Amino acid sequence: MCGIVCYVGKQKAKPILLEGLKRLEYRGYDSAGLAVQNGPHIDCFKAVGKIIELEKKINDLEIEGASGIAHTRWATHGEPSEINAHPQTDQEENVFVIHNGIIENFYILKRKLEKSGATFSSETDTEVLAHLIARNFDGSLQEAVRKTMTQVEGTFGLAVIHREAPGEVVVARRGSPLIIGVGKDGNFAASDVAAMVRYTNEVIHLNDNELALITEDQVSISTAQAKAVTRAIEKVEWQPEDAELNGFPHFMLKEIYEQPETARNAMRGRLELSEGVSKLGGIMPVWDQLKECRHMVFVACGTSYHAGCVGRYIFERLTEIDVEVEIASEFRYRKLNFPPNTFIVAISQSGETADTLAAIREARRKGARLLGIVNVVGSSISRETEAGIYNHAGPEIGVASTKIFVSQLVILTLLAVLLGRHQKLSLTEGVEAIKALSNLPDLLRRVLSQDNHIQAIAEKYYCCNNWLFLGRKYEYPIALEAALKLKEISYIHAEGYPAGEMKHGPIALINPDMPTVAIVPQDSMYEKMMSNIQEVKSRRGPIIAIATEGDRKIRELADEVIEVPPTLEYLYPALTVVPCQLLAYYCARFLNRDIDKPRNLAKSVTVE
Ligand code: F6R
Repeated sequence: MCGIVCYVGKQKAKPILLEGLKRLEYRGYDSAGLAVQNGPHIDCFKAVGKIIELEKKINDLEIEGASGIAHTRWATHGEPSEINAHPQTDQEENVFVIHNGIIENFYILKRKLEKSGATFSSETDTEVLAHLIARNFDGSLQEAVRKTMTQVEGTFGLAVIHREAPGEVVVARRGSPLIIGVGKDGNFAASDVAAMVRYTNEVIHLNDNELALITEDQVSISTAQAKAVTRAIEKVEWQPEDAELNGFPHFMLKEIYEQPETARNAMRGRLELSEGVSKLGGIMPVWDQLKECRHMVFVACGTSYHAGCVGRYIFERLTEIDVEVEIASEFRYRKLNFPPNTFIVAISQSGETADTLAAIREARRKGARLLGIVNVVGSSISRETEAGIYNHAGPEIGVASTKIFVSQLVILTLLAVLLGRHQKLSLTEGVEAIKALSNLPDLLRRVLSQDNHIQAIAEKYYCCNNWLFLGRKYEYPIALEAALKLKEISYIHAEGYPAGEMKHGPIALINPDMPTVAIVPQDSMYEKMMSNIQEVKSRRGPIIAIATEGDRKIRELADEVIEVPPTLEYLYPALTVVPCQLLAYYCARFLNRDIDKPRNLAKSVTVE
C-alpha cells in the first residue's frame, strides 16, 4: 500500500520521480505528490487520483533540482485529497516528508504539538512526522529523524528532505519496506525495487529501526540508537521490461500469460527426475528439523491463503505431515499451542503483508520454527523466517494476483515431494510427480490457447450480478480463488463453495440468472461433483464447467465447457485456476473496469 520513491544525483529529479511513481502505482493510487529540492528551494506538487493527474499538473513546468521525494497514496488517515496527499510539511515548510505505515500515537503527539503552537492542515498521521522532524532539526537532518523515531509508535517507511539540508534525503524504516538503490549517477530509495530497476539493480535493504542518509555519492546507514551499520550491496534479478506491458492491454493479462514461464522458473534447477525428488537449497539451514516435522501451519492472506488451502491437500497426499491452514489476520488471535518441531510456513507474494508478518512474529514467540514461501527477495518475511523458498517469478504488478498463485502451488508441490520422499512416498510416485511437474508449463499453454473461447463465455454472462463457483477437495480452494478474482476486479458478487455444501443452504440462490462455474476435472471427486451439477441443472441454473479434455458426460449437463488437459489429481488446480482468471479478466473488461487498479484495493497490504 502506498509507494515511496526518492532520488539524489546528477540528473533532474522530476522525470525520475514521476517514472518511479508510475512503477509503484499498483501499490496505491488515490492521490500522489512529489517534492523536488534545488538548494534551499523546495517545489511541492500534489494531485488527487492516479499519477497521470500529477503528471498533467507538472508536465509543462520547469522544475529544477536533482534531489527529491515522491509518493503514491492509499488512504488510511483522512480521505484522498490534495491536503492529505504526501509530501506533508510543517507550518514553516522546512521539512517535507512522505510516509507508508501508520503512526499509532499520532493523536497524542498532535495534541501536544498543537498545544506548543503547531498548526496542522491535514487529517494525516504523517503530518505529525513533519512537525516533529522540524522541531528536532538542529543542523543535521539525520539526527532529527533519529530523534523522531524514538518519539513515534507504529509503523513507518519514510523519506524526508529539509530546506537546510540540500542534496540529502534521509529514509527510515520500522515495519514498512524501504530499499536503497545504489546508482552510477546518484542514489535512490523506494518501497519497492520496481521503482528503481530502470536505473540500477544494486540494492541495500534497510532493516527495522534503521535510517539512512543518502546523498549523490554516499549512503550511510545507522540504527535508531546511532550505531553505524555496514551492509553489503545485493543484486536484484528483475529486469526493467518485467515491469512493462510489452503489448498486453493489462498487467493482469500479461501475468496470466506468463504462467507457463512462471511455473518453469519456480522449478528451474530444482527437479531431480532420476531420484524422484526436488532440491530446495533455501531450506537446507533447517533441514535436519524439517525432515522430522509432522505438523505444519500455513499462514497467508487472500490468494496466497487459497494456495495454502490447495497445499494442505497436496501435503496430505504426498507426506505424513498434518497441515493446518490459517488466515494470517485471525491466526495471531488464536490460542497458539504447537506440538514440538512445528513449522509455520508463511506464504506471501510481496513478503510484506502486515497480517502475515504479525502472524509469524506471534508464532516465533510461541516457539514455532519459521519458513517462508516468498516472491520478493529480501522482503520482510524472507528475512524474518529462518529459511525458505523463493518463487523467482519476477514482479507481479496487476493488483489481482495470478501468476504467483500458480507459482506457489508449484513450490508447495516441490516441498511436499521433497519431504514426502523422506516419509511415505515411493521412488515411482516421486518420479511421477517430477515428470508431471515438468510437463506443467506445456499444459498451461494448452489452457491459455482457449482464451477466445473463454472471452466469448464471459461476453455471454458478464451482465449477471451473482455468480457461484463450486469445487471439491483440491478444487474447493480454486472455487474460492475464482470467486475472489471475479469480485475484486469486476465488482460482481461471487461466492466460492465446496459443492457438497450446496444442499445446506446456497442452493436456494440458484435461478436462471445466476451462473454456476463448476470445477470438475476427472479426479477422485468427479462423480460427486457431477451429482452436484445435476442439482444446479434441475433448478435451471446456467452451468459453466471447467472439465478434463474429452469429457463427454459433462457436455450433456453444462451450458458451456472449458477444457483443461489431463494431469495428476494434485496438479489440476494449477490448470483449473487459469480459466477462472481469464473469465474474471474478461468480465471485468466487458464491464470497463480498471483491471490493474481495482477500486479500494492496493498491492501489498502493509497495514493490519
Ligand atoms: C488477491 C490478492 C490478495 C493477496 C493478499 C496477500 O488477488 O492479490 O488477496 O494475495 O493480499 O498478499 P501477499 O501474497 O503479498 O502476502
